[in-house]
Amino acid sequence: MKSQIVRINKIALAAFVVALVLTASGAFAGRMELARIFEHIPPNGPAARYGNVTMVFDTDNRAPVIFPHWLHRARYTCKTCHLDLSFSLYSGESGMSRKQMVNGLFCGACHDGATAFSLHEESRNCDRCHLVQPERLDQRFTRFAHGLPASDAGNQIDWHETLSQGYISLQDSVNGKRRTNMTLPEDLSRPLLIGSQSPRLSVAFSHEDHFEWLDCSNCHPLVFNINKGKTEHFSMKHNVFGWFCGTCHMRVAFPMQDCQGCHPQIKKRPML
Ligand code: HEC
Ligand code: HEC
Ligand code: HEC
Ligand code: HEC
Ligand code: HEC
Ligand code: HEC
Repeated sequence: MKSQIVRINKIALAAFVVALVLTASGAFAGRMELARIFEHIPPNGPAARYGNVTMVFDTDNRAPVIFPHWLHRARYTCKTCHLDLSFSLYSGESGMSRKQMVNGLFCGACHDGATAFSLHEESRNCDRCHLVQPERLDQRFTRFAHGLPASDAGNQIDWHETLSQGYISLQDSVNGKRRTNMTLPEDLSRPLLIGSQSPRLSVAFSHEDHFEWLDCSNCHPLVFNINKGKTEHFSMKHNVFGWFCGTCHMRVAFPMQDCQGCHPQIKKRPML
């Protein structure tokens, strides 16, 4: 009787050990895979050029247009352009033409000689956008960034602190009028815990911090399902490939290198 119990326990123990090894190696494989994916994070380029969108066309032999986000986001909220002026959050998708701009749409809503330098024929400013001397824009960045709250990646500017400490103040529309913002409902002003894959590395997402810059429609429904937990395929892996949080946090807002920006629990990039 006694030996039988011992035997059963041995089998149970063996099964337990096998199960443990399997789970551990599964987790390990998952971690290895994620580590490989992190190698896809683009290198931390020159701070002056992070967020610059290059627009190339083959119909004209002019230099490509360089649109610098840093310069514009230091003056306007994202929603001024990505809601009011219908600029797409995906480069190349806005479908703008010179004709529309001359008629006051897209860049032409501001670059009309009143709000900002003109793009009209007689103005001779063509080279400032069809950028002939990119170094000039880099130098302008260096002068701008000097003395601002710093960060390690992207523009190497802590944009949140730069705004909240009053180094910049943002216009929320082209004509300078403040829009009548809705106040966030009570449950959206609390951080939202997200993290379906690994609860240990869950992220406290703040609607409030994003709402200073963005409109609800910049994220819902295209980037995120408005029902908590219902965004399909939402994972760190897909963030790194430029989806979900990576839609902005790989291209304009602080990039994925800055693990602590979203995961204060991570001390140093442990996976790399
Ligand atoms: C002055 C206007 C303007 C402002 C302000 C602005 N953007 Fe943009 N954004 C653009 C334009 C123009 C493009 C390129 C669109 C195109 O190519 O069709 C763009 C593209 C993007 C892209 C895609 C970039 C890429 O490389 O694929 C992202 C992401 C983005 N913006 C996020 C933001 C965020 C976040 C903010 C606020 C912090 C912001 N934008 C503020 C005009 C603006
Ligand atoms: C919401 C208003 C607004 C929109 C829309 C806008 N800009 Fe600007 N832009 C400005 C302002 C204001 C400045 C600063 C003017 C100055 O002091 O040079 C500026 C400056 C620039 C500069 C810097 C030029 C230099 O010589 O330093 C470039 C390049 C530029 N814009 C390109 C663009 C392009 C390309 C678009 C459209 C894709 C665009 N902007 C849309 C407001 C706007
Ligand atoms: C404020 C920035 C800005 C200025 C200034 C500017 N452009 Fe452009 N230009 C653009 C942008 C943005 C596009 C469209 C990019 C795209 O196709 O996605 C463009 C496209 C063009 C195109 C090709 C596309 C088309 O629809 O025909 C021509 C030609 C052109 N510009 C000529 C000029 C000339 C000439 C000047 C000076 C008189 C000038 N641009 C000044 C931003 C500017
Ligand atoms: C920067 C992107 C972003 C912006 C802007 C944004 N949201 Fe969200 N929202 C999210 C994410 C991420 C989730 C969680 C999705 C998930 O879990 O699948 C979410 C979830 C929600 C939820 C579900 C919350 C819950 O506890 O069940 C509501 C409601 C919501 N958003 C409303 C809004 C409203 C209203 C606005 C504008 C005031 C807004 N969102 C702006 C990213 C955003
Ligand atoms: C539509 C663009 C967009 C998307 C999508 C987005 N963010 Fe952001 N986020 C921003 C901008 C703009 C800022 C301001 C700081 C900056 O630009 O670096 C910001 C700031 C933050 C901050 C810092 C806030 C602070 O107070 O310092 C955190 C944390 C953050 N985002 C997390 C997330 C997470 C997590 C997701 C995905 C669930 C996400 N963001 C999706 C645009 C975006
Ligand atoms: C812009 C915000 C943001 C940044 C920056 C960020 N993460 Fe994440 N991370 C998230 C979100 C949101 C999730 C939860 C996704 C989900 O629902 O599973 C996540 C999940 C994870 C997970 C859990 C496993 C998984 O696949 O979801 C790991 C591990 C992780 N992140 C590691 C990192 C590391 C390492 C870095 C730096 C190289 C980093 N993250 C940078 C937002 C971010």
